Amino acid sequence: MSIPTQTSKSAELYARAVKVLPGGVSRNTVLRDPYPAYAEYGSGCRITDTEGVTRLDFSNNMASLIHGHACPEIVQSVSEQLARGSAFTMATEMEVRYAELLCDRNPGFEKLRFVNSGTEALMVALKSSRAFTGRPKIAKVEGAYHGGYDYAEVSQSPSPANWGDIDHPKSVPLAHGTPDSALNDVVIIPFNDPERAIAILDENAADLACVLLDLMPHRVGLRPADAEFVAAIRDWTTRNGSLLVLDEVITFRTEYSGLQTSYGITADLTALGKMIGGGFPIGAVTGRSDVMEVLNPRSKKLLFPHSGTFSANPISTTAGFVAMEKFDAPAIKRLNALAQRAIKGITDAISETGLAACVTGGGSMFRVHMKEHEPCNFREAYLTPEQNGQIKLLLDYMFDEGFVLINTCTATLSTPMTEVEIDALVRAFKGGFQRIVSEG
Ligand SMILES: Cc1ncc(COP(=O)(O)O)c(C=O)c1O
Repeated sequence: MSIPTQTSKSAELYARAVKVLPGGVSRNTVLRDPYPAYAEYGSGCRITDTEGVTRLDFSNNMASLIHGHACPEIVQSVSEQLARGSAFTMATEMEVRYAELLCDRNPGFEKLRFVNSGTEALMVALKSSRAFTGRPKIAKVEGAYHGGYDYAEVSQSPSPANWGDIDHPKSVPLAHGTPDSALNDVVIIPFNDPERAIAILDENAADLACVLLDLMPHRVGLRPADAEFVAAIRDWTTRNGSLLVLDEVITFRTEYSGLQTSYGITADLTALGKMIGGGFPIGAVTGRSDVMEVLNPRSKKLLFPHSGTFSANPISTTAGFVAMEKFDAPAIKRLNALAQRAIKGITDAISETGLAACVTGGGSMFRVHMKEHEPCNFREAYLTPEQNGQIKLLLDYMFDEGFVLINTCTATLSTPMTEVEIDALVRAFKGGFQRIVSEG
């Protein structure tokens, strides 16, 4: 089960890759030291690399494969659709059926537009908010990841050196060369701090098109937002003519109608992605019909013209339709219970090994932190160099033991998993914690 050696096929592939791909990869998340493992095939909750090593997959392509790899029903429906064509400059019945299915899951999903990724869904949601309100600015939580649109990625990865005073967190660029105009139009608020957040929003009230929120932001610590914080933001947006945009690209998996239902709120717009593509690229923006009207090409004054060559292509919508039909309320309940079992097991293992660590999460996802207490916001979740080293050691150990995790030490479950895989994961984590303790 050990990581590939210098003579492996992965090493050979990587030597070729660095000549044609920057850093040898097409997405930074797959990079490992000394080089990435290359996937050969996947089946259910297992993935096999080019060396022939099979591991349990708790990454699931960054939380997008809710039914694991090569789900038979998806393979069959997509194969049938592929034989009939993969994309047309015509509308398809499947986009209508799939939009109906998604809109039926939450009464707040009145109209919906399909796009090609979570990034694009967030971009369209933010631009729709501007088009609807006529205001330029957006507010977002410090450290929250919302994909690669210029405005959405501001302060995605600030550090103590540049994040500024907590009363007024700085708008920190991610990419070098981000225009000041983009930074000036993004207002940063601290997570789970209603008092500070509302004070900052008040200062920008007249200019804010929307507040963008993920109710359990992964990079901010993967801890569900406090109800008080969410209620304060919902209330503030309603009172100030600003929209509440929820990023449920990941959290939609936690509840049948999305995580927003457990807070008793309805977003004005919701961005979806990842699992709703059934393993294929997709995104969607959905919400209030009067807001979605900005996208209506038949309206007298089209406020936001938007198109996409592969939007609502029948491969992604077919796969997504099958995936979401199968991910019904009992399936969600079962998977969430499995995650609870894992969280309890890992928490017990932490106590038994005496490590200063904890587990956060909700629904069918969780994250292990090398922190004694659950982090409440991005600054608390931020890893010291020592904690970073421990996470790296743990991830390498888990990989060698046959477990693929997201590189923040986050696990996402898929429906082929059972208690057997969960208990194996817990045992491996315990071994990993013991290794950290023994290495001091
Ligand atoms: C919460 C959240 N929003 C948006 C995105 C962007 O989605 P995509 O990678 O499909 O562009 C991600 C991706 O990881 C995400 O986790």
